[in-house]
Amino acid sequence: MRAEWEVVTLRMVIPCSHSYAVVLCVSLSLFWEQLSSSPLNQRPIIGILAQDASYGFAKLGKSYIAASYVKYIESAGARVVPISIGLTEDQYKKLFYSINGLLLPGGGANLETSQYSKNALLFYKLALQANDNGTHFPIWGTCLGFEELTVITSGKKLLIHTNTSKMSLPLNFTKDAKDSRMFKDFPEDLMKALAVEPLSLNSHRWSLSVKNFTNNAELRNFYKILSTNMDSQGIEFVSTIEALNYPIYGVQWHPEKNSFEWNRKQNIAHTPNAVKVTSYMAEFFVNEAQKNWHQFSSKTEETNALIYNYVPIYTGNICSFEQIYIIDGN
Ligand SMILES: *[C@@H]1O[C@H](CO)[C@@H](O)[C@H](O)[C@H]1NC(C)=O
Ligand SMILES: *[C@@H]1O[C@H](CO)[C@@H](O)[C@H](O)[C@H]1NC(C)=O
Ligand SMILES: *[C@@H]1O[C@H](CO)[C@@H](O)[C@H](O)[C@H]1NC(C)=O
Ligand SMILES: *[C@@H]1O[C@H](CO)[C@@H](O)[C@H](O)[C@H]1NC(C)=O
Repeated sequence: MRAEWEVVTLRMVIPCSHSYAVVLCVSLSLFWEQLSSSPLNQRPIIGILAQDASYGFAKLGKSYIAASYVKYIESAGARVVPISIGLTEDQYKKLFYSINGLLLPGGGANLETSQYSKNALLFYKLALQANDNGTHFPIWGTCLGFEELTVITSGKKLLIHTNTSKMSLPLNFTKDAKDSRMFKDFPEDLMKALAVEPLSLNSHRWSLSVKNFTNNAELRNFYKILSTNMDSQGIEFVSTIEALNYPIYGVQWHPEKNSFEWNRKQNIAHTPNAVKVTSYMAEFFVNEAQKNWHQFSSKTEETNALIYNYVPIYTGNICSFEQIYIIDGN
């Protein structure tokens, strides 16, 4: 893409020195404008944060990534770089300028003391700066990742215990959903399905209530609520958010599980609409990541960083993830 642009620029300069070529020049300029209004990086790479292994995983390694997040990103046309928990700040910074977006996956790491939480904060700060500098760098948080984003933005843990484990629910869309960046290009029938069919898996025991969101100035000035849900005790909690002025997104539910996790006890939806939800959500985020041109400083560096250097292991017999990648070994 870049090389083609340079060719176009040259051709614009040369004919413009001849008056008869003004028309050609103008039409090339129009072409140039069209091109530059939607430049997309066709080889996006998403970083996925590894998280501190706990419970049964600790004997397998120091950190892991559930493979369903990797498949989710790959299914939408991007490659994945795992982000280890054991790097130096300089190494994280270098990685930031090498990747095109960041995914904070779900799991069970501590929201304030884990390496996962520290890395999330570091990348979040860099992403705000980069976006302020005109680089479109998206961050996506799912479940624990959603909660982490709200802790980082507010500087507080504002969560409340809810009865929201292992249940797929329809989304209660707010009036902001229809014109949101996230949902505005979704097909109408899929939006309808999301609103009435149980297509969003909830797998969390803590939630951000709409009340706590609304009472916190940092949160309500930074994010818009796109959907909410109600638990069995009548606690209304935030289920989908997008930042007002940054490409930062969060879902308390699990768009990746519908297509890629199969544990029967979780009550994950696998209907055609459920699978479509996985696809559309993944496509949206990858499309956001196509809007920046961060890249590794060499092909070798890129090759060595990609998830292809790791082999997932079967864990369907010990936990609710079918497969995980061990990122930092013991
Ligand atoms: C943003 O721009 C400032 C000023 O040029 C620079 O110091 C900073 O490193 C940039 N940050 C990012 C994340 O690009
Ligand atoms: C609000 O957050 C606090 C923690 O700061 C928590 O103790 C409380 O239960 C939450 N209330 C609601 C209604 O979510
Ligand atoms: C949607 O909101 C209504 C009204 O607040 C509530 O009764 C219902 O349980 C909610 N639906 C879901 C799936 O959370
Ligand atoms: C949790 O919610 C489910 C589904 O609404 C309900 O069947 C169950 O009784 C609830 N459990 C508690 C402890 O309220």
